Amino acid sequence: MTIREVLRMGDARLLRHAEEVRKFDTPELHELLKDMRDTMHALDGVGLAAPQIGVNLRVVIFEVNANPRYPDAETVPQTVLVNPVLTPLSDAMDEGWEGCLSIPGMRGLVPRFTHLRYQGRDEYGALIDRTVSGFHARVVQHECDHLDGILYPMRVRDLKDFGFNEALFPGENVRDE
Ligand code: NI
Repeated sequence: MTIREVLRMGDARLLRHAEEVRKFDTPELHELLKDMRDTMHALDGVGLAAPQIGVNLRVVIFEVNANPRYPDAETVPQTVLVNPVLTPLSDAMDEGWEGCLSIPGMRGLVPRFTHLRYQGRDEYGALIDRTVSGFHARVVQHECDHLDGILYPMRVRDLKDFGFNEALFPGENVRDE
């Protein structure tokens, strides 16, 4: 089990354009994904992008499990997405609160496309092609932004809608991602 250091906003490595993965089902790619899963689970995150642990490749993971503390929260299947391509299916956007493991303790209100098709490959090279909406679509857009050096505060429309969890949501137990 290897928990990697998650880079924090301000680190220039989070601002790079990540490179495509060329070879699938390699020991290096499997090891990267194991480290990403271990790190995401240890920090109780919803998703993680390889650049967040300093690896400049187009690889993201995400998953949202049923949580008894949040019975109404939408779940998202455990997914490995390599070289993703995102296609919004309409101009419709929703605003929702986001956090990020690279910006611990904070939240911002971020507009995202409501309906989205995403394509890519898993770590074995198998094709993934899904049409999603709502929270699932939001998580994918957040994680894939990391591959283009975009952190969610860059998308917050009004910086009044960006702040510390305990100030924005007093008394609530808010996760970092
Ligand atoms: Ni993030």
